[in-house]
Amino acid sequence: MKTLLVTGGAGFIGSHVVRKMVLDHPEFHIINLDQLTYAGNLENLTDIQDAPNYRFIRGNIVDGTFLEKLFQEEEIHGVIHLAAESHVDRSIADPMSFINTNIVGTVNLLNACRNAWKDFEGKLFYHISTDEVYGSLGSSGLFTEDTAYDPRSPYSASKASSDHLVRAYHHTYGMPIVISNCSNNYGPNQFPEKLIPLAINNILQMKPIPIYGKGENVRDWLYVEDHATAIELIFRKGSNGRTYNIGGLNEWQNIDLIRLLCKIMDEKLERESGTSEGLITYVKDRAGHDLRYAIDSTRIAEELDWKPSLNFEEGLARTVTWYLENQEWMQRITSGVYQSYYDQQYRDR
Ligand code: NAD
Ligand code: DAU
Repeated sequence: MKTLLVTGGAGFIGSHVVRKMVLDHPEFHIINLDQLTYAGNLENLTDIQDAPNYRFIRGNIVDGTFLEKLFQEEEIHGVIHLAAESHVDRSIADPMSFINTNIVGTVNLLNACRNAWKDFEGKLFYHISTDEVYGSLGSSGLFTEDTAYDPRSPYSASKASSDHLVRAYHHTYGMPIVISNCSNNYGPNQFPEKLIPLAINNILQMKPIPIYGKGENVRDWLYVEDHATAIELIFRKGSNGRTYNIGGLNEWQNIDLIRLLCKIMDEKLERESGTSEGLITYVKDRAGHDLRYAIDSTRIAEELDWKPSLNFEEGLARTVTWYLENQEWMQRITSGVYQSYYDQQYRDR
């Protein structure tokens, strides 16, 4: 039985990837390695936690010695690397934790693979990255895999750096790698500091919905299970050394997205139409706020026959239903330390 190491599998996207790999690939033993930071939560995986081909290990990718030992103890054939600090606002407040986890952690993992993999036959290091490495677009144009890197936040700079290092290990040492750069994900299990779950949580509590700047920034939204499907496909069929952009073909200005979400929430909560929109509050803009991201995903469509399966209205309604059915989950993870962080951030705007 081959062993696949998924890092960051207790987080938002990672939990969907772990579930998919565990259920679709009984021939693989899946190890989920996660430090369980504020963003990691094993509750995201209770339905598969007892699966015979699944195991959780708590550990920090910044600890190179720990990783070397893990790779000595386990014969790992492949890695899907998702563990990261992922929130742009946090990277503006505290860049160093992004440098440590996203850059040093990635190099530690690459080194552990290089030391353990005496021969690269049948091995793969799959690095999960973001469209933010390409910078910011004006009102037209799309990011392709050939767009020059131009990261503009500490988060995106740390992800760009890790992408470069993964490619460097491919070119220098011949390590088999693939990289995918995806647009904004939404769906179940997303920590409510990101726009959509934050707004859902605030609407539920009748709190202000903070819109940065004028709300004109554009993001391309993809349902998280569609991303997990793309990741599984790239893991199986992606070409060695290749990069794949993944996008939702689904661009929205933040303010229009939030208005749609407000409408869905009013209907689901049986509130008078317009109640949630009344909570919209324009606040100070994010420093260095990228205007627009948009992905050209022709390569993955043509080479791997992938496209998003859900339209946005359907995906958003499904997401709202999940959050309404999991309010205790939301209350638990937004209490204590996180709540004081959020309150502080909001006060500072
Ligand atoms: P997340 O913040 O929800 O989850 C990150 C996970 O990594 C958590 O479980 C956390 O505990 C774990 N982790 C953090 N630091 C760690 C460390 N030092 N050692 C071990 N585990 C650690 O993130 P996400 O939104 O699920 O993103 C996952 C990956 O996908 C990231 O690499 C991110 O850059 C990338 N990505 C995210 C999006 C998005 O829209 N969320 C889009 C494109 C790419
Ligand atoms: O593009 C992919 C990236 O998408 C991922 O790599 C990141 O990990 C992920 O966090 C996400 O980054 P964004 O900064 O685009 O996502 P966020 O949900 O933080 O913000 C989405 C947009 O909404 C952005 O323009 C900022 C704005 N926003 C965000 C928050 C949290 C607000 O207007 N108000 C808010 O309270």
